[in-house]
Amino acid sequence: MMARRARSCIQGAAAALGALCIVACSQPQPSAGEGGAPANRSGDTAPAAIEPEDEINLDLWLERLEVGSRELYSARAAVVDAVGLQPGDWVADIGSGTGLYTLLFAEEIGPTGQVFAEDIEPLFLDLVTRRAADADLNNISAVLGREDDVTLPNESIDVVFIADTYHYFDDREAVMRSVFRALKPGGSLILVEFDIAPGEERADYKSHVRFGKDAVISELEFVGFKYEGETQVEGLDENYFVTLVKPAE
Ligand SMILES: C[S@@+](CC[C@H](N)C(=O)[O-])C[C@H]1O[C@@H](n2cnc3c(N)ncnc32)[C@H](O)[C@@H]1O
Repeated sequence: MMARRARSCIQGAAAALGALCIVACSQPQPSAGEGGAPANRSGDTAPAAIEPEDEINLDLWLERLEVGSRELYSARAAVVDAVGLQPGDWVADIGSGTGLYTLLFAEEIGPTGQVFAEDIEPLFLDLVTRRAADADLNNISAVLGREDDVTLPNESIDVVFIADTYHYFDDREAVMRSVFRALKPGGSLILVEFDIAPGEERADYKSHVRFGKDAVISELEFVGFKYEGETQVEGLDENYFVTLVKPAE
């Protein structure tokens, strides 16, 4: 998987939410949850679909992620509709990549809302920041997360959106605990992922996906999320779209 290199120091941390770019640093991390928690899969060694040498070629990434043959691109309008954002929402696009969904969400929430484009790859965040400026969108903040923490302030986010990214997390329990903390009580987590059936012979493009929908939902419930249900989104055939919530206290 791309972007596995260590982040060495704080490049500058915008103290307040809403600053254009929030950059966190890498520091010694505590080990993930003890007791064989199901979401901790840091021992996984499954190969990634896209090799590290591709990581700096943004043109290649744009061609791969924003192409009609990718259903998350061709069905993007239906996906955004299904997310159901409201003007003024604060939404986090975790693993924002080229910003495909970040930019669409920014249009949906309007000038009173905020989209936090979070990724562990600074080059993607630079690209998203440039694209936001080109599109005159002032409600996008780029957030450099850590491999095990999305580095968003506690209880600040209405909706967390994670598309085609969950299966890349090395320590899913730690990442999802940080997502849980970042959500407001009652806030939603929307996950869009390739599904795989047990024993399915997987095509190359999803050979790196290691677990199916039921296993993912169990992991998220273990962390504290409550499963709300699945939405059938027109144009999504290989990906499922599920919503979970952080229970209100
Ligand atoms: C296949 S891309 C998906 C991009 C975007 N969500 C989309 O659907 O177009 C996966 C993204 O996850 C990011 N990523 C991988 N591990 C991550 C982690 N631990 N935290 C945040 N982002 C991560 C990668 O840098 C990459 O941008």
